[in-house]
Amino acid sequence: MDARDVPETIENVYGSRSYATEYSKLDWGGTYHLIARDLPTILRENVPPGHALDFGCGTGRSTRLLKDLGYHAVGMDISEAMVTIARDLDPQGEYVVVENGNYSTLPVDKFDLILSCFPFDNIPTAEIKLAILQDLRKLLLPAGVFVNVVSSPEIYRHEWATFTTAPFPENRLAQSGDVVRIITTTFADSPVCEDILFDEASYRHLYNQSGFRVVAKHEPLGHNDDGVEWRTETTIAPWVIWVLSGNS
Ligand SMILES: C[S@@+](CC[C@H](N)C(=O)[O-])C[C@H]1O[C@@H](n2cnc3c(N)ncnc32)[C@H](O)[C@@H]1O
Repeated sequence: MDARDVPETIENVYGSRSYATEYSKLDWGGTYHLIARDLPTILRENVPPGHALDFGCGTGRSTRLLKDLGYHAVGMDISEAMVTIARDLDPQGEYVVVENGNYSTLPVDKFDLILSCFPFDNIPTAEIKLAILQDLRKLLLPAGVFVNVVSSPEIYRHEWATFTTAPFPENRLAQSGDVVRIITTTFADSPVCEDILFDEASYRHLYNQSGFRVVAKHEPLGHNDDGVEWRTETTIAPWVIWVLSGNS
């Protein structure tokens, strides 16, 4: 994909320095605990430690998780504000700011693992998602694995340990491809984040089109012994973790 052909993501709140600062304080508490609890096992079962690309690394939370698991991880993002904080938090780490869709400056050209932890929630159209998936597939080794962590459509319709959607009842009517809104309750000033709802059928279609094969789909639920004050998490999964093979 030519970088010049790629429109910007929908209003990328992650480009704002104040949002980036709030994001960097999140860590893996509250609703995110479900990812920190289950992702390490999912990764270990599917990809031995090797070269990993963290697509949309933000302030580096997911990159540091990969490094802690023994992967040689490179974080990559389109937001200078997010990557600046990632570098401050992990001065020894490798973090790259890329132009949207231009991956020519990455330090490794083929990866064993690509992790995408939440960027797809924010990428506007199916066409752009498809172009990005096709490009990411080219960055994988033949036996490489792509793990795509996304928000479930349900996250926009309920209340959670870390999020509220109560001010946006219109989310309940949203169809795949529509804009939905959500607020992270732990953030100062509660900025509204606009995402794109994308359902399971749409993701499966996209993976098929881009040559990825679905290996597994995980929907972690909260457990009573997690030590988190769950709200909806014990009965409805807020996240979906897709494990995909680049070999269709
Ligand atoms: C919700 S944050 C997640 C950050 C990190 N993965 C984590 O889990 O903490 C999503 C990130 O994806 C980035 N992003 C969105 N669209 C992108 C694109 N087309 N290419 C690279 N990064 C993108 C945003 O700038 C933002 O930093």
